[in-house]
Amino acid sequence: MSQKLNLSDLESRLDSLSAGEGLALVAELFPGKVVFSTSLGQEDQVITQLIATQTLPISIFSLDTGRLFGETLDLLSRTDAKYKTKIQVYYPTTSSVEKLVNEIGINGFYDSVENRKSCCFVRKVEPLKRALAGNEVWVTGLRAEQSANRSDMKRIEWDEANQIIKYNPLLDWTFDQMIAYINEKNIPYNPLHNKGFISIGCAPCTRAIEPGEDARAGRWWWEDSKKECGLHAK
Ligand code: ADX
Ligand code: SF4
Repeated sequence: MSQKLNLSDLESRLDSLSAGEGLALVAELFPGKVVFSTSLGQEDQVITQLIATQTLPISIFSLDTGRLFGETLDLLSRTDAKYKTKIQVYYPTTSSVEKLVNEIGINGFYDSVENRKSCCFVRKVEPLKRALAGNEVWVTGLRAEQSANRSDMKRIEWDEANQIIKYNPLLDWTFDQMIAYINEKNIPYNPLHNKGFISIGCAPCTRAIEPGEDARAGRWWWEDSKKECGLHAK
């Protein structure tokens, strides 16, 4: 399939480029068709800084699930102010949230993996599909180090679930490298990171982690699952 061939060519070109250079190349190759999803996590803040300081034509969006931490929404506003960006915010469909909550209860995601996945579907996966529609490349802040099931991801790959090319510019960045970059460039970040929160999602489904725990241990901590919500289904 030519899509695959082109992607492996592009992958080799990206191999020799920095994250910032890679973003610039992708924006040039797919004009007006590249979008970046930010959860306002540390990885995403680095990417926003790289896009904004180079004024790349990549639009940035965030999925407001309705259950995010106040600190995350404040960070969205602070980020827009600092980088003069206009992060587009997508919301779950009103009727779907109403149906879900009235069926499973306001915190029904704690009751079963099935309920939790339904909640993630309504609040994240479906809005993501709307945000990606009509675009050709989806940029994310995934890093291979984050978890075992992210370690074999590729820098650029075809995302079958969303029928789009997925580009992970920070895939091979280490945690320490990312923190050093944030400090060096004075990039705004979520104050919860200083309170033991590493990977931050919805408030009721995220807790701080203890030293030595896996970075994603605080996500859906009550579940013995793969700790993925469906955005990055494999
Ligand atoms: S998740 O699947 O467990 O929620 P994680 O928090 O690790 O994902 O973030 C990985 C990447 O998914 C982020 O870098 C970002 O690109 C995207 N992402 C996750 N949550 C959101 C969100 N609420 N809005 C936009 N993008 C998101
Ligand atoms: Fe619902 Fe929790 Fe998933 Fe957020 S992380 S969408 S609150 S189940």
